[in-house]
Amino acid sequence: MSIIWDEETTTAAPKAAAILTPASGNPQQAAEEPAKLESLQGESTARVKVDEKKIINCRADLNQLVPIKYQWAWQKYLDACANHWMPQEINMSRDIELWKSNQMTEDERRVVKRNMGFFSTADSLVANNIVLAAYRHITNPECRQYMLRQAFEEAVHTHAYQYIIESLGLDEGEVFNMYHEVNSIHGKADFETESFKGAQTFLENLIGYYVIMEGIFFYSGFVMMLNFKRQNRLPGSGEQFEYILRDETMHMNFGIDVINQIKAENPDLWTKEVRERSTDLVRQAVKLEVAYAQDTMPRGILGINAGMFEDYVQYVADRRLEKIGLTKIYGSENPFPWMSEVLDLRKEKNFFETRVTEYQVGGALSWD
Ligand SMILES: [Fe+2]
Ligand SMILES: [Fe+2]
Repeated sequence: MSIIWDEETTTAAPKAAAILTPASGNPQQAAEEPAKLESLQGESTARVKVDEKKIINCRADLNQLVPIKYQWAWQKYLDACANHWMPQEINMSRDIELWKSNQMTEDERRVVKRNMGFFSTADSLVANNIVLAAYRHITNPECRQYMLRQAFEEAVHTHAYQYIIESLGLDEGEVFNMYHEVNSIHGKADFETESFKGAQTFLENLIGYYVIMEGIFFYSGFVMMLNFKRQNRLPGSGEQFEYILRDETMHMNFGIDVINQIKAENPDLWTKEVRERSTDLVRQAVKLEVAYAQDTMPRGILGINAGMFEDYVQYVADRRLEKIGLTKIYGSENPFPWMSEVLDLRKEKNFFETRVTEYQVGGALSWD
């Protein structure tokens, strides 16, 4: 997945850059001279009216969170913060015991290693896309507030994968280089989504990351890793993945809301060509994901096999297409209905029950 696209996507890019540009060309003079007010606040210093706020190409002051226009973005920020967790809170001792024993087959170990190989670098790609590319083009403070939280969560996920890799004592060089060295992982990491210009390219980037990467490419791995826990194996790694799945569901839903809002505000962007190209991207992604599942699990393990993933990935892809207003193309059934149960349970389970760490909160902070 590439993170670079046409610099002229939105007018927000030069605005964002202006904040970093000294008001004067002379660096010495610039150090003493405050940057121009307009550069810091957007097009004007007028008070922000809610109707002026837009997801892309907004000219109202981007430094003022309120008045909030997109309640869904603010609510996701609040929900994400309420879901805070850290990888070290999860007990990995049973996983370590099992991994070091002779109770795991080579096929099972391959599934774990390949998934670590994919996820350990995929979340980095997502985080880098948010921070280095997407953020500057989203000209809305409540969406940016959520994206800042999401960026942190991606760091937590990369930490979680590293925590599993370290706990099991996997070869770090081998795992972290799989996205260069294993074709089925490389194919997903290198997935290209840039054929349009300007804002349409940005829309395509959002579909590439939020719908395809976080909404399709993650899901075979989620099934495989959560299936171990269902079979009472690797429960710590499974729990890490349950927390990650909960976060990722929200990331994807945020992306879908952003995409649909951009479409509503800029209907001219959502042309027949863009719709067809987006559907085609999903079709290509499904092929890559099925190939990944077959390569990762050439023989069935623990009640699941590669053949089931073809139906599953197609089923997931149809749901993603419909969520962004495109027609579904496969009509496959879900061979893993328990995955929906895992997702539903996530909403209900009290994650604080199993907490081993108390977070410091305002008023209780100490700095020793
Ligand atoms: Fe993530
Ligand atoms: Fe994510």
